[in-house]
Amino acid sequence: MHDRIKDLLSPLEYDEAERRQLARLMVCFAELPKPTELLEHLPEFEAHREAFLNAIEGTDAEALEERFLELYANVHMHEARYTDEERKQMDLAGGYWSHAGGLSPILKASAWISPATVSADLGAGNGLQGLLLQHLYPHQLTIQYEISSEMIKIGHKLQEWIGIPEERVEWIVGDVCDQVFEDIDFYYLYRPVRPDTERGEAFYENLAEMLDWGERPVVIFSIADCLKKFLSRRFKEFYNDGHLTCFTST
Ligand SMILES: C[S@@+](CC[C@H](N)C(=O)[O-])C[C@H]1O[C@@H](n2cnc3c(N)ncnc32)[C@H](O)[C@@H]1O
Repeated sequence: MHDRIKDLLSPLEYDEAERRQLARLMVCFAELPKPTELLEHLPEFEAHREAFLNAIEGTDAEALEERFLELYANVHMHEARYTDEERKQMDLAGGYWSHAGGLSPILKASAWISPATVSADLGAGNGLQGLLLQHLYPHQLTIQYEISSEMIKIGHKLQEWIGIPEERVEWIVGDVCDQVFEDIDFYYLYRPVRPDTERGEAFYENLAEMLDWGERPVVIFSIADCLKKFLSRRFKEFYNDGHLTCFTST
């Protein structure tokens, strides 16, 4: 199935390596068992998967890509649930809601994650992004930081369903503004808080300072980036497509 999907995707503008990873992700979603434990959260999953499986049998690359993106968006879930307390805490730093970072950071990460990598998603939602990174590039540990306890509960079920071993993922329920980040090699973030609030600005300032402590090289994948202006000169931007910005430390 992998080779068939990869060939079918060839008219689209992915480079060879990304097309291979995208085909692997598609095979994963095509072959996963019915998510019985998750259906209450993903009531439309089976309909989206059916449409995706039909597109695999077809000849239209764009239709296949679209049906897959719809399925991915369904599993990512765009509405996080928050307790009153979590919402209050989140509003202090202008917390950003559960929009999906998309597939491009996942496909582009292959060169930056090795089996020894510790990765983290700061504001992980249900953790799908980190779980897909683990699926494609199995590595030491993924730390999922998220303020919504409900999304983390769903994330545990997603982890089991996708088949990522328990010891590969650590889930931390809490406010990213209160965390100390260290011993992480690959940071992924999609604007968990807004830099135009006092608390949000302090988060980016502190994160940039913590990133400077470590001695090992660090890679940052940032969607809708607002960290750049806080980073020290040790960090160089090596990719920016207006959606995803990537940095490495020298
Ligand atoms: C834009 S979404 C990104 C989701 C996922 N990382 C992705 O890229 O697809 C931002 C996430 O940050 C979480 N968030 C917002 N404020 C937060 C805070 N103060 N601490 C931890 N997580 C927070 C939201 O609940 C949401 O899941």
